[in-house]
Amino acid sequence: LSYLPQVATMISWVLLACALPCATDPLLGAFARRDIKKGPPQLICSMPGPQGPPGPPGAPGPSGMVGRMGFPGKDGQDGQDGDRGDNGEEGAPGRAGNRGKPGPKGKAGAIGRAGPRGPKGVSGAPGKNGTPGKKGPKGKKGDPGLPGPCSCGSARAKSAFSVAVTKSYPRERLPIKFDKILMNEGGHYNASSGKFVCGVPGIYYFTYDITLANKHLAIGLVHNGQYRIRTFDANTGNHDVASGSTILALKQGDEVWLQIFYSEQNGLFYDPYWTDSLFTGFLIYADQDDPNEV
Ligand SMILES: *[C@@H]1O[C@H](CO)[C@@H](O)[C@H](O)[C@H]1NC(C)=O
Repeated sequence: LSYLPQVATMISWVLLACALPCATDPLLGAFARRDIKKGPPQLICSMPGPQGPPGPPGAPGPSGMVGRMGFPGKDGQDGQDGDRGDNGEEGAPGRAGNRGKPGPKGKAGAIGRAGPRGPKGVSGAPGKNGTPGKKGPKGKKGDPGLPGPCSCGSARAKSAFSVAVTKSYPRERLPIKFDKILMNEGGHYNASSGKFVCGVPGIYYFTYDITLANKHLAIGLVHNGQYRIRTFDANTGNHDVASGSTILALKQGDEVWLQIFYSEQNGLFYDPYWTDSLFTGFLIYADQDDPNEV
């Protein structure tokens, strides 16, 4: 009802607009004739003609009051994802997780480089003997060695004898046979020949003690046929003893004996109860180079 005055004003304006052509406005009539010039020519401001075409729309009215808020519309489609934000600050480390299961055994690694040289090992056992070499040339004769130990008392070095006669008045210029053996160490005195035969080269001592009676005595010690000693004892009507002694260097096989060196001077006298005549000899020491002595 509040709009009724406005509606009445609008109707008035419409009626006035219809009466204006009748006011014989030449401008308006000219204007009208241009609008209908395609049609048949008509008379103006005579009788009311047919209803003209609607006029142009009026100016828009003022905006109305804002209506009440409608219902919310449907949700639009999701917008595109926004740009990735900046990384936040690093948080505190979390607690250590549980110990995992041991993984499968890996492949053997490559051989490493040689380690430092170890300490020297103990020496091994000596090797086997090599094959004997060829016999070398004969060497020069060496220097003489030192004297060996004393061989006195050894079996080879023994040579000593002491023998006696059992007959009176031996033959001249022949070895006197002392056939009673008191001692013959080494067996070098030969009772069959009456000669001592050297078995151990060396230095010997010889001595004799010959009883005489009734005749003179000229007796000598013979070495390889040469007299070394001559002794003479003249008979004075009693028993007497002639003696002699010496030292000889004997070689192997040398012979030593006693014999009457002059005719009819063989007063050697034997009595089993009163007199003995002895021929004695012994080795003082053997030669160093005697092969039997070594
Ligand atoms: C002892 O002398 C005799 C006579 O010369 C001789 O026949 C004999 O072979 C000698 N004995 C030794 C062991 O030399």
